[in-house]
Amino acid sequence: MINGHEISSRLQKKHLKLDYEVICKKSTGSTNVDAKKAAGQSNLLIVAEKQTAGKGRYGRSFYSESTGGLYFTVKICRDNINLNTGDITFIPLIAAVAVSQAVSSLCGVELLIKWPNDLLYKSGSEHKKLCGILTEASVSAGSTEPESRSVSYFIAGIGLNVNNDITDFPGDIKNTASSLKIITGKQYDLADILCETVDIFTRFLFAPREILLDEYKKRLLLGIDISFAQNGSIIKGKTAGINQSGNLVVKLENGGETIIRSGEINFI
Ligand code: BTN
Repeated sequence: MINGHEISSRLQKKHLKLDYEVICKKSTGSTNVDAKKAAGQSNLLIVAEKQTAGKGRYGRSFYSESTGGLYFTVKICRDNINLNTGDITFIPLIAAVAVSQAVSSLCGVELLIKWPNDLLYKSGSEHKKLCGILTEASVSAGSTEPESRSVSYFIAGIGLNVNNDITDFPGDIKNTASSLKIITGKQYDLADILCETVDIFTRFLFAPREILLDEYKKRLLLGIDISFAQNGSIIKGKTAGINQSGNLVVKLENGGETIIRSGEINFI
């Protein structure tokens, strides 16, 4: 079981630029919902051993009802860091790089990024999902310029399959998901992975963008056939890179290029 006092003292020893109030729960609906409901201006790290109503992107659910995975949300408040909506674009990228670096150094497993922030493991010709990330922000309506509106807080919710067995996953998730234990046959200390990820995440919040983008590009899945929705049509192409703003560059079937700023891509 993850212990809040132990996590706090381990994070304090790392002398991070931000302090976190740590809350550990045996079970909760969703750590993202808990983080949004929390009053006050403290940065939070909310961890749960399992979630009964885990949230995924685009209103989907995220299965996290059995123990073995690492389910947590980092909440950063405006009083502690100066952010505008332009910076928020980079939070999913920071979270993806933080988890993949932590997993690489502690478990020796190299995860790949499906833009913007699913973390996958290549197994034969397939890619299995190990980590999902859901970032959300509360933006004040002050300015008319979206890029300069101020952010009251943002949250990054991370769900990583660590010690899960394949039988822990229900239905079709068995075919699309994997865990660090399934890949390596080893059990991992959730607290180690949590502290390492929060450490790297916090450092990247203050690091130059170029360093983040370089780390992200090293892991981004390139040359993959994808389809995506744009202006009401379904378009096909190949992943070709990211630009300086973290948007996905796609090479189209007709030889041209397009940029995807938000939304979802599907591997085909
Ligand atoms: C996705 O794959 O669509 C994103 C999944 C994000 C899951 C994490 S688990 C911790 C946090 N709490 C939630 O309810 N969701 C995120």
